[in-house]
Amino acid sequence: MVNTYIQENKDRFLKELLELLKIPSVSADSTLAGEVRRMADALAEKLKEAGAENVQVLPTKGHPMVYGDKIIDPKLPTVLVYGHYDVQPPDPLELWDSPPFEPVIKTTDIHPEGAIFARGACDDKGQMYMQVKAFEAMNKSGELPCNVKFIIEGEEEVGSENLEDFVIKYQDKLTADVILVSDTGIMSNDVPTITTGLRGLSYVEVEVTGPNRDLHSGLYGGGVANPINALAKMIASLHDENGHITIPGFYDKVQEAPEKERQLIASAPYSEEAYCKALNIKETFGEKGYSTLERTSIRPTLDVNGIWGGYIGEGAKTVIASKAHAKISMRLVPNQDPDEITALFKKHFESIAPAGITVVVKPHHGGEPAVTPVDSIEYEAASKAMEKTFGKKPIPLRSGGSIPIVAMFERVLGIKTVLLGFGLDSDAIHSPNEHYGLFNFYKGIETIPIFFRNYAELKKN
Ligand code: BES
Ligand code: MN
Ligand code: MN
Repeated sequence: MVNTYIQENKDRFLKELLELLKIPSVSADSTLAGEVRRMADALAEKLKEAGAENVQVLPTKGHPMVYGDKIIDPKLPTVLVYGHYDVQPPDPLELWDSPPFEPVIKTTDIHPEGAIFARGACDDKGQMYMQVKAFEAMNKSGELPCNVKFIIEGEEEVGSENLEDFVIKYQDKLTADVILVSDTGIMSNDVPTITTGLRGLSYVEVEVTGPNRDLHSGLYGGGVANPINALAKMIASLHDENGHITIPGFYDKVQEAPEKERQLIASAPYSEEAYCKALNIKETFGEKGYSTLERTSIRPTLDVNGIWGGYIGEGAKTVIASKAHAKISMRLVPNQDPDEITALFKKHFESIAPAGITVVVKPHHGGEPAVTPVDSIEYEAASKAMEKTFGKKPIPLRSGGSIPIVAMFERVLGIKTVLLGFGLDSDAIHSPNEHYGLFNFYKGIETIPIFFRNYAELKKN
């Protein structure tokens, strides 16, 4: 029995994950490329131990892909599991209560049965490893109901830049009936949720230049446009008083969510009060006419992610900097196109530069938005699996995060994805003290085999 196998091996599953969390596989940090590689090799080893065949660490122009499969019968359906073994940089280190790559288990109010604190605990090593262990449990107990393929990448957190070429090259190797991804979340541990949409992303860096060198702010102040003042004003003008984004054409292709979906969002067990309390804010903020849940899922946004320039050292230095910079993300919804939005941003941002200021807009990686169907076999299989393990039917809700490969897999391979994630928004992914509940880790391992069973069963009919 799968469940008996899980029960008998659950402590080892956790120990193995803790070992993987010690490897600092930060894809953005080129000095850690060796660690990323070490992580890929360690994961490949784990896949082999779990019973996967044809396990390979396949090179790309960047960090390698880890592949493995188990084809029990070519006539049976195939589930392609996607995940990522790379993690976000741990900075700022001083805000961690324990070192990011020395996992510890602690209880919290939300996780009374304990949570693993480490970079990647939830995003995505912990969630990806649930897939590996669920596979092991099905395989070793002789209850694997269909074929499985794994494709685990090492560049998700830096935009999956080499994945599309890889998928095109290995199209035949990656044929499958459905893609299964555990890299999203649920509303809370007693409100199971299935993510039915992800936002797209356009990410730009701007450089604003005034005079050709830093200037004495007394001698030159009043005589020239200050790039930092200018940048602040330009950024401030990107939203109007109703929280709408002012870039011409930005909303042109936005597909309004159907009324039915808005009703579903409105009826989700969400508390504005609890949301504010958890973040220690008095009020939420954003686009007029939409609720907080709507603004963070079905609506596009624009946010400054970083801003710098001038003197930030100790004390006061009287200077007008020559340059100012910012990094800006725009989260997109169907049917906004990331390249089009980047172009619209660039055109607009250049046009609002005051006299005496030049602007350079540099695009970074982007990604397409995606919605996944709720009237599909895979949705039903996932929903019934969660209903069984949580004792409650999950709610379909779109997430505000981005997993650009979902749209790409559909475009290139023609395969749809089911997002069966178990994280919580409060797990602090990408932030200091990232953690993942033991409840969530084990709930995932328990739910995934039921998904497989349901899916194989439903596919027969
Ligand atoms: N797993 C996250 C995305 C996510 C988290 C979706 C929670 C839904 C719920 C993923 O690893 C991620 O961080 N994606 C990036 C985009 C990527 C292009 C760097 C993001 O959303 O910022
Ligand atoms: Mn992720
Ligand atoms: Mn992430």
